[in-house]
Amino acid sequence: MSREEKYSEAQLVEIGLSRAMIPGHIAIIMDGNGRWAQQHGWPRIEGHRRGVSSVRSIVEEASRLGLGQLTLYCFSSENWKRPPKELSLLMHLLKQYLVEERREIQRQGLQFRVIGNTAGLDPMIQKEMQKTIDASEGNNGMTLCLAINYGARLEITEAMQRIAKSVKSGQLSPEDICEKTIADHLMTAGMPDPDLLIRTAGEYRISNFLLWQISYSEIWVSEKQWPEFREDDLRDAIRDFARRDRRYGGLNPLK
Ligand code: IPE
Ligand code: IPE
Ligand code: MG
Repeated sequence: MSREEKYSEAQLVEIGLSRAMIPGHIAIIMDGNGRWAQQHGWPRIEGHRRGVSSVRSIVEEASRLGLGQLTLYCFSSENWKRPPKELSLLMHLLKQYLVEERREIQRQGLQFRVIGNTAGLDPMIQKEMQKTIDASEGNNGMTLCLAINYGARLEITEAMQRIAKSVKSGQLSPEDICEKTIADHLMTAGMPDPDLLIRTAGEYRISNFLLWQISYSEIWVSEKQWPEFREDDLRDAIRDFARRDRRYGGLNPLK
C-alpha cells in the first residue's frame, strides 16, 4: 500500500480519530463464527468462510489507519478438539487465504509473520505460509501476525525449556534471567506488546492467547460475532481505547 492510501490526518479527523489516538499494536481474538452461522441456520463452516472477509476488511482498515501491528488469533492449540470435518474445512480455508492474500499483502506492503506451532500443521500449509513470509520480506508496512496453532502456555513452556538448556550448558546464569530474557524466548520476540486486545462475540476470556504479552493491554469486548465485525467496529474500539487512562501501576501525573 502506498503512503497515499493511508488515511491523512484530515481523513482521520473526519472519522473521529487522529494519528495520536491510533494504538501501535492491536491483537484480536476473532470469535463467534460458528454462532453467527447457526443464527442464520447455516453450517458452522459458513461462519468461518464469512469470517475470512472480516479478516480482509480489518487488515486493510488497520493498515490504512497506520497501525504498526495487527495480530489475529486464527486457530488455537486447543481448537484441535473440534470435529474432524470442521478442522479439515478450517485448514482448507487457511491454505486458501494464504495463497489468495499473497498479492494483497504485497500490494499493501505488509510484513507477514506467524506465531504458533507451525510444525504441527499440514506441510502444504507450512509451504504456503513460508512463501508468503518470504514474499513479504523487505516490506515496511504494518506487521500482520497470524496466530495459528498457537497456545500461550505452550509458548511459555517452550521458552522455559530453552532458557533451562542455556543455564545447563553454562551460557546463562540464573541470576541473569530477567523479563527481557523471557520475552526474547517467546514466539513474539522482537514484537511490541499489544496495546489493545479486542475479543468479539461477547466472551470475556483470554482463551490461552498471548498471556505474557497482554499484561498491560487494554481490553475491548464486542458483542458482535466476528463475521459481522467490520471497519466501523474497529474504529469504535480505537476511539474507546483513546479514552483509557493507562497507568501501568503508577499515577497519571496530569490528574
Ligand atoms: C472463531 O469462531 C474461529 C475459531 C476458533 C477457529 P468459533 O468457531 O469459535 O465460533 P463460536 O465461538 O463457536 O461461535
Ligand atoms: C479462541 O476462540 C480461539 C480463536 C479465536 C482462534 P475459541 O472459540 O476457541 O475459545 P473458547 O473455546 O470459547 O474459549
Ligand atoms: Mg468460539
